Amino acid sequence: MTTAEQAAARRVTYQLETLWDYDYEPTHDELTTLYETAKKNQWNGSTAIDWTRPVGTEGPVLNVKEAFRGTNFFTRLTAEEQKEVEIRISAWRLSQFLHGEQGALVVCGQLVNSIPELDAKLYAATQVVDEGRHVEVFERYVKKLHKIYPVDPLLKAVLDEILATNLWELKLLGMQMIVEGLAIAAFNVMRRQTADPTLTQVLDYVLQDEGRHVNFGYFALRRSIPAMDPDKRAYLEDFTVNACDQMYARDERTGFRSIQSVWNEMGWDGEKIWKDTVANSVTTKHFNSFLFQDNLMPRLQRLGLISERVAPRYRALGLLS
Ligand SMILES: [Fe+2]
Ligand SMILES: [Fe+2]
Repeated sequence: MTTAEQAAARRVTYQLETLWDYDYEPTHDELTTLYETAKKNQWNGSTAIDWTRPVGTEGPVLNVKEAFRGTNFFTRLTAEEQKEVEIRISAWRLSQFLHGEQGALVVCGQLVNSIPELDAKLYAATQVVDEGRHVEVFERYVKKLHKIYPVDPLLKAVLDEILATNLWELKLLGMQMIVEGLAIAAFNVMRRQTADPTLTQVLDYVLQDEGRHVNFGYFALRRSIPAMDPDKRAYLEDFTVNACDQMYARDERTGFRSIQSVWNEMGWDGEKIWKDTVANSVTTKHFNSFLFQDNLMPRLQRLGLISERVAPRYRALGLLS
């Protein structure tokens, strides 16, 4: 990448209306409780987490046997190679968490401006602080562990589209429902596969906040979607089905494929390992079913975003029966 390309990749240009709310009337009853919980459950990333322990000494950062169960390539690795996989793959995963958290931070800052109602702005303000703290703890952990890998191109594309839209409803849907849903699924997988007490603590604290964020998106969208004009609603439906299509890792064209660069870095065939993990890894199957079947699809259905117009695409993807 040239310097000019690098500078362009860091910039997202958009036009966004900032809305005042001079009514000072509560509009979302559910947000009162959520806002109080958000204020009460703030935590300090510097003091809540015990940062004194060296990373990975009390337990593996990633239980690689569990993480790559079902794959063919993993059965041939030596103990040293497995250790290298543990560190590098964990660093790649945590780097994506870190970039995703930075995305959440900047999108949520936009929501404070663009969401119409003041009670929703106040809730969004608590989320800005939450996401800032998530950036802080993941950055700290990944730097202790190894290094920060570049943002995955698919993750960046999804985040950039959410940042660039002038529709606050799409920001809410894209960030609070889709990206946060993805993050919760990924954090839960990592939580089950780590035995490092510092990472366990980081993930437990972060997950506690993320649950609120998804609820915020759901409450605000449940209110705005029924009143939305059909064109805007169709635009949201299309964004969602396209994002699901790309994120649902099932072949060489879909999923967060920059993990291949980690395998290549170790001198292996990244594309071959990718095909092996997509076809055989139990983790990939768990992740997909947790994200789509258990969480995203039921919520999208309740919000009315799977219309008869887009339902055939979900069926073709195997995400809807
Ligand atoms: Fe977050
Ligand atoms: Fe979040």
